[in-house]
Amino acid sequence: MPAIVIIGAQWGDEGKGKVTDALGGRSDMVVRYQGGNNAGHTVVTPAGEKFALRLIPSGILTARTTVIGNGVVVDPAALAEELGELDARGIDTSGLVISANAHLVMPHHRALDKVTERFLGKAKIGTTGRGIGPAYGDKIARIGIRMQDLLDEKILREKIEAALQEKNQVLVKLYNRKALSIDETFTEYLRFGDALRHRIIDTGLLINRALDVGQLVVFEGSQATMLDVDHGTYPFVTSSNATAGGASVGAGIGPKRLDRIIGIVKAYTTRVGSGPFPTELFDASADYLRKTGGEYGVVTGRERRCGWFDSVVARYANRVNGLTDFVLTKLDVLTSLDRVPICVAYDVDGERCEEMPMTQTEFHHAQPIYEYLDGWWENLSTARTFADLPVNARAYVERLEELVGVQISAVGVGPGREQTLVRHELI
Ligand code: IMP
Repeated sequence: MPAIVIIGAQWGDEGKGKVTDALGGRSDMVVRYQGGNNAGHTVVTPAGEKFALRLIPSGILTARTTVIGNGVVVDPAALAEELGELDARGIDTSGLVISANAHLVMPHHRALDKVTERFLGKAKIGTTGRGIGPAYGDKIARIGIRMQDLLDEKILREKIEAALQEKNQVLVKLYNRKALSIDETFTEYLRFGDALRHRIIDTGLLINRALDVGQLVVFEGSQATMLDVDHGTYPFVTSSNATAGGASVGAGIGPKRLDRIIGIVKAYTTRVGSGPFPTELFDASADYLRKTGGEYGVVTGRERRCGWFDSVVARYANRVNGLTDFVLTKLDVLTSLDRVPICVAYDVDGERCEEMPMTQTEFHHAQPIYEYLDGWWENLSTARTFADLPVNARAYVERLEELVGVQISAVGVGPGREQTLVRHELI
């Protein structure tokens, strides 16, 4: 079972970092294939140490080799900061390599992300403001600057000059901002190139060779299915393919090489940023979920929007990713509710919808249709097997499994590594 993909099945923050970390302990390589330092992966080690990773794959804590693939956009300033934090805490980062083809997030991307959001006003996407969208935009427009360009002084200078000649016009004339200095940007990025030179390699070749010899490679998705630029709630999405197909493109391996595709799904739902969210709560239950679940952004500290489990979304995640398993996280957060609601379908303008509506307009109109299960009061955090869970908690998991049509192979009952109850082995 050499290639395993880990995907967020909702709007992100499902606890992917914890799962990658758990599998990373047994894997030879962990690869990130999309996104950038907009991601926030929280991992708690058995010693109780908490790590909040943004750009670096959470496998850095366990796997021998960690890879930032070609599909990722890399802000070298953020990378340097994160590497510094890990070094200071005694984590060996020598196994981290970066694709020569990965695109760079530049200062003008960060600046543009902020001003364009402001420009959108009420229609804003609610981005993390890290320059991710503008960096992907330039990649697709074929004017991006890549990791490999850091290794060629002449090319780097030319590309920064070309980029800033255009972007400075936009920043100054359209948005009334200060122009960025070509010299300063060049000097700064040349320095990043020197610091990262030894890590920049052909990662596609490395990953394929690892798979050829049967090594275990975990592909760690960031963001999630509903934030995928093609399959998510466009335009309220991130600018990359977070779904399983993105793993193939963003790592440089053929799609047939992916053996297992694991969707991570929270026992309820959260979302940050703008956009439709049918099961969103606005009453005391939202505060309860937010406080109990610690639902605040790792990257931005923003309060996450909270709602009940949505099985329409989970079924859709199965469809677009071709999932082999679900891992259900944070079941413990639902403890002490009288009744636990599950959204089983939507009412869209008077019609019952079991599947994701075709248009965004319909999705904006979707009203959740709930089924209610009896709650439980017992503390779940000390459970170590599925059988240790109270009968109502087990019934909740089994009902979700029935509704989404994919086996729930593991259930999370707390942040620690030992608090994942395995029902079917993932490797
Ligand atoms: P961007 O990725 O910064 O462009 O933001 C686009 C949308 O994706 C916004 O709604 C963000 O809040 C959301 N987003 C980006 N990264 C994450 C994440 O790691 N978890 C949850 N939402 C995210």
